Amino acid sequence: MLFEGLELVSALATLAACLVSVTLLLAVSQQLWQLRWAATRDKSCKLPIPKGSMGFPLIGETGHWLLQVFSKIFSHEALESYLPKIQLVIQDTLRAWSSQPEAINVYQEAQRLTFRMAVRVLLGFSIPEEDLAHLFEVYQQFVENVFSLPVDLPFSGYRRGIQARQILQKGLEKAIREKLQCTQGKDYSDALDILIESSKEHGKEMTMQELKDGTLELIFAAYATTASASTSLIMQLLKHPAVLEKLREELRAQGLLHSGGCPCEGTLRLDTLSGLRYLDCVIKEVMRLFTPISGGYRTVLQTFELDGFQIPKGWSVMYSIRDTHDTAPVFKDVNVFDPDRFSQARSEDKDGRFHYLPFGGGVRTCLGKHLAKLFLKVLAVELASTSRFELATRTFPRITLVPVLHPVDGLSVKFFGLDSNQNKILPETEAMLSATV
Ligand code: HEM
Repeated sequence: MLFEGLELVSALATLAACLVSVTLLLAVSQQLWQLRWAATRDKSCKLPIPKGSMGFPLIGETGHWLLQVFSKIFSHEALESYLPKIQLVIQDTLRAWSSQPEAINVYQEAQRLTFRMAVRVLLGFSIPEEDLAHLFEVYQQFVENVFSLPVDLPFSGYRRGIQARQILQKGLEKAIREKLQCTQGKDYSDALDILIESSKEHGKEMTMQELKDGTLELIFAAYATTASASTSLIMQLLKHPAVLEKLREELRAQGLLHSGGCPCEGTLRLDTLSGLRYLDCVIKEVMRLFTPISGGYRTVLQTFELDGFQIPKGWSVMYSIRDTHDTAPVFKDVNVFDPDRFSQARSEDKDGRFHYLPFGGGVRTCLGKHLAKLFLKVLAVELASTSRFELATRTFPRITLVPVLHPVDGLSVKFFGLDSNQNKILPETEAMLSATV
């Protein structure tokens, strides 16, 4: 009896300890989340702060006019106009990767690529390559210190983060001013143009400070998430050659895998991409098993009940994307990488609205999801049609989840170009060596 009593006390103590840790974890991570967004903006920024959600401060309330502007930025028409530029940025990057004699660190290079995409395509800045490289270094310093404690001491992470933000904002201001001068009277063709023009249409001309904060937040939202997903995509194509081959077959069938690599510089269209069903399945499966963001936060606006538990108004709650994907009953062999689960015949994601949510869910779902998927699809098409790539380490690296999902060593991969028969183009010295053997 005494023994049972002790067991009960110990079980209650464990439960209490668990509750305290969960509450603490929630409170700390919520603070970090808020800090993360607050760090992207200047104190004087007047952009709306979210109500009822700890989502993206740029947008704030769901019915806000900025949401309507964002729907334009990511509309079908806008995506069609970004597509050739995205393709060119990716083609340039893959050429550079293939010309490197050494293996590259995929995660690091994917970060550089998404930064480039955000600056060149989304913001339409035509800054010289060296300035872009410098801006990227500063940006990395900024991102590395976003989660630091807000203690403003010399050499502290916080001070370094603030300094990096100031340099970035200076660079952004210069680029925005140049852009405003060049684009006056022209049709708009990138997200920043749309942001500027549409806010005017809503009678809310944005100040320079708001534009700088807004652009920094846009880069921030696009950067780490898309780099994480791009790295996972490359890793899965390496791990599953049969999937890559099937992808190549699909491209070949659609006339997209020509001799001499892909001659289709800047010629992909949205409808061509949406016709590639297997490609869609591959991207979906990468996003299911390797979702870059673990979850999100919400403030409860109205008391509600979930599975018999009452969740009171005013509480902060967290939803987990990763756990949802791991436990959703709709997915068979949940840990297996199997793009065909999304094929028309199986459509595992079609049963139930909230089993598959790599881009979040509800009214605060990711605004850039179509752009992100488009980017990943173009990357996969270009990889399949113009590159061969090999893992440069003996085994695949472990995956870490913080701050976003990525391989611990960044994933070391050697890239080669492809000749007209889809064979590797070896660097000259290697080609000579193999010719003499
Ligand atoms: C693979 C890449 C991406 C993933 C996995 C991703 C994921 C997410 C998730 C899960 C959320 C919701 C967070 C929450 O519930 O509070 C979110 C929000 C958001 N994302 Fe993305 N995202 C990606 C790329 C992008 C890109 C490229 C952009 C645009 C440039 C973008 C812009 C946004 C914005 C503006 C929000 C806030 C929406 C709001 O609060 O109403 N994302 N993203």
